[in-house]
Parts: sequence; structure tokens; C-alpha cells
Amino acid sequence: MTTIPTLTTDRLILRPIARADLDAYAEIWSDEEFTRHIGGPSDRHGTWHNLAGNIGCWTLEGVGPWSVVERATGTLIGRAGLWNEPGWPGIEAVWFIGRPWWGHGFGTEAATAAIGWAFDEYPDLPEVVSVIRATNAASIRLAERLGMHLTRTERLHGAEKGIYAIARSEWVSRAPTIEA
Ligand SMILES: CC(C)(COP(=O)(O)OP(=O)(O)OC[C@H]1O[C@@H](n2cnc3c(N)ncnc32)[C@H](O)[C@@H]1OP(=O)(O)O)[C@@H](O)C(=O)NCCC(=O)NCCS
Repeated sequence: MTTIPTLTTDRLILRPIARADLDAYAEIWSDEEFTRHIGGPSDRHGTWHNLAGNIGCWTLEGVGPWSVVERATGTLIGRAGLWNEPGWPGIEAVWFIGRPWWGHGFGTEAATAAIGWAFDEYPDLPEVVSVIRATNAASIRLAERLGMHLTRTERLHGAEKGIYAIARSEWVSRAPTIEA
């Protein structure tokens, strides 16, 4: 059984997903605008299955997403971390910040912690990728801000996606300069 770590940043705690998080996630994932580039709104049932898959990812793949909590308020503001599955282009950094909290650098801050953890935890990991639709300007901007660059496109889950990536050597020189 994988032990899911907890990460702390200046303003955030990335902690294991818990059953008690369901209501907050159902609220975030019910928003049309939030889900515009990620398949559309999800109901409570779909959200529960998502969370179960996220926790399962930790057990099956040794990486996974965390619940992102704002330290100042204790509020769950999103989910971010890592993802992998059979046929995926590599260990992926993922980021989902609820609409009320957009534009404060939280996505960048959470992703920075997650990618740093991945490179520390897996010394042989050559790169971290991010799988992003061409229309998702905010996500592409976040990836670029982290120093990721578009390497290719791939058809994944039935649609063409951009594969952004950052190599370990790039991360080592880049990470200390990233500001949330
Ligand atoms: C993508 C997402 C995580 C960004 O979260 P965030 O906390 O608002 O991001 P940050 O504040 O760290 O900003 C990162 C960069 O994106 C830019 N950005 C944010 N929203 C943007 C938008 N709608 N259009 C263009 N750029 C945007 C920011 O300005 C910043 O770039 P800058 O430093 O050059 O100004 C958030 O919009 C989100 O969760 N979207 C819905 C879910 C989703 O699509 N996830 C990604 C799936 S691939």
C-alpha cells in the first residue's frame, strides 16, 4: 500500500484526498466554465468515481493527485499533483483549481511542489509531462510558466492533445526561479 505524502508550500497544503472532500469537489466540478476544457461538468456520482480513481492511481502507479488546501483559510481550493496510466506519455503533472481561486498563482504553486516531489522521489525519472488541449489557454500558460514546452501532439482518450514536457536538467535550473 502506497503512503501518500503531504506537501506544504508557502500558501498551500497538498494532502491526501479524503471522503470528506466530496462536497467541495462536487461544487468545483459542477461549474461549466471550470470544466470547459476537461469534458464538462460532473455530478456528485461522477465526482466520487473521479476521486476513487485518483486515490487508486497512487496505489497502482506510485504517484497521484493531492487535495489542495489554502493554508490561510483551510479551504479546499482544488486538486493537483501527478498522474500516470497505461499508454500515457509519462508521469504527468495535473492541475485543477476551482474558479473562485483562479489567478492567484495557486496552480503554479501546487504544480511546482508536485513536480519537485516527482523528481526527488524518482531519481531515474527523465521528464515530467502535461497533457493539454490546444484550446486550454490558462493551462498552456501555466505549463509554460513552469518551463514546460510543447514536444508533440498525441491522440489520447479520443482527442488530440498537446504533450508539454520539462526534462529533469531543465527543472533543476528552472525551479528556483518560478514565482507563484
Ligand atoms: C489552469 C488552471 C489550473 C490555472 O490555475 P490558476 O491558479 O488560475 O493559475 P495561476 O494563477 O498559477 O496562473 C498561471 C498562468 O496562467 C495564466 N492564466 C490564468 N488563467 C488564464 C486564462 N483564462 N487565459 C490565459 N492565461 C491564463 C496566468 O495569468 C498565469 O500566467 P502569467 O504569469 O503569465 O500571468 C485553472 O484555470 C483551472 O483549474 N482550470 C480548469 C481546469 C483545467 O482546465 N485544468 C487543466 C487541465 S489540462
